[in-house]
Amino acid sequence: MGYVAEPFKIKAVEPIRITTPEERRAAIIAADYNNFGLSSDDVYIDLLTDSGTGALSDRQWAGLMIGDEAYAGGRSHRHLMQVTDEIFGYDWVQPVHQGRAAEKVLFPFITTPGQYVISNTFFDTTRGHVGLAGGIPVDLVCPEGGDVEVDAPFKGNIDVPRLEAFLAEHGGESVAAIVMTITNNSVGGQPVSVANMREASRVAREHGVLLVIDAARFAENAYFVKRREPEFRDASIREITRTTFALADAFTMSAKKDAIVSMGGLIAVRDRAAHPDLVAGLQANVVAGEGFLTYGGLAGRDLETLAIGLKEGLDENFLRYRLGQSEYLADRLLEDGIPHQRPVGGHGVFVDAGALLPHIPWYRFPGHALAVELYLEAGIRSCDIGSYLLDPDPVTGEPQQAVAEFTRLAIPRRVYTQSHLDVVADALRAIRDRADTVPGYQIVEQPAVLRHFTAKLRPIV
Ligand SMILES: Cc1ncc(COP(=O)(O)O)c(C=O)c1O
Repeated sequence: MGYVAEPFKIKAVEPIRITTPEERRAAIIAADYNNFGLSSDDVYIDLLTDSGTGALSDRQWAGLMIGDEAYAGGRSHRHLMQVTDEIFGYDWVQPVHQGRAAEKVLFPFITTPGQYVISNTFFDTTRGHVGLAGGIPVDLVCPEGGDVEVDAPFKGNIDVPRLEAFLAEHGGESVAAIVMTITNNSVGGQPVSVANMREASRVAREHGVLLVIDAARFAENAYFVKRREPEFRDASIREITRTTFALADAFTMSAKKDAIVSMGGLIAVRDRAAHPDLVAGLQANVVAGEGFLTYGGLAGRDLETLAIGLKEGLDENFLRYRLGQSEYLADRLLEDGIPHQRPVGGHGVFVDAGALLPHIPWYRFPGHALAVELYLEAGIRSCDIGSYLLDPDPVTGEPQQAVAEFTRLAIPRRVYTQSHLDVVADALRAIRDRADTVPGYQIVEQPAVLRHFTAKLRPIV
């Protein structure tokens, strides 16, 4: 498909530096071959993440000025509560400083050590917090989710028969929660259908298990539902969002994605009366770790921009352009024979580095190898979503093999143009032509959890 033109015009620009190949080689060595260690001054196109990297709108910048910095009972908090009520219809919504803060508040309270927590696929911080709370994370993605070749509309879905079998075998009391990640980041930003949410909700209720949405990209998910699930063809994005969230008991959200803010998150409980102890327990965790309830680790101006960004992120014209960028880049890669997850996910393109670099085995991290190579080629920063991202098994300490070895090209919201995306496609084509020279990597130093942020690596030459 063609490029969907931007539904906005540019009012402020940020210069970016163009580096030489020698400068890039020196920079990646100094970063111990970890893209997270690079200085952003040395990056030309930053596709490391779509999290907190979106461009604020003029209305959001204006919101920064009118943010109310009162410690308690602030106007900006009320504005945020009014907007979240309109969109989600949940009884209790709490701002926190980002998505993992919501996870840190939730999982220690709902998880008894030794209990399972099941997901369509956990994002790494969510998996980390389940583990830190003593829980055992279990991924049950549908079979299509693990198959890069299959073209299916909802590859982010949970595998309902396996979910039912797991609960029948272990019993509801051994499961603290079912977490539906929408869209499913770790399998390529793939959407979850409302039909699948309904099934997950039914199974959760039958077994008395809490259903939680990890809602980082809820608006992109709703747009996919509108385009791909016939029942919702004529529904608005807001109607789909309401229908989806009505199926869950609680949600955690990194607002740095679809709510288009630099920093922020939410945690929410739908029916407060049904879970009185839950809300009280979560509030205690918030006050202890994040701050008073009406600011939750954020400045008043952050609450204001979040209220505005939540609404802008649900705009259908914006979502058409937004998902159009991923589709445009993916179509360019298709023309050049560069394997990637199809249909393309919401927040970027997941290149199948395992297929592009078949000489690198999973335990030498092809997804990471391609990310380093893209930096060396054109100053493009991306990251591994594969076996390097996965920490060793918390019980056995053994390395874990991911379902696929991706390099993620995450596209920040409202930031890059069609020409930037062309630079990315051209760089990948150049790497394709010398793919067999790209080395694998070994880890020489790593922390106990969330290793991909700070591990040190070396190429195996
Ligand atoms: C699906 C998902 N959940 C949770 C998080 C964590 O959010 P944060 O980075 O705001 O802590 C992310 C971040 O990328 C995510 O993609």
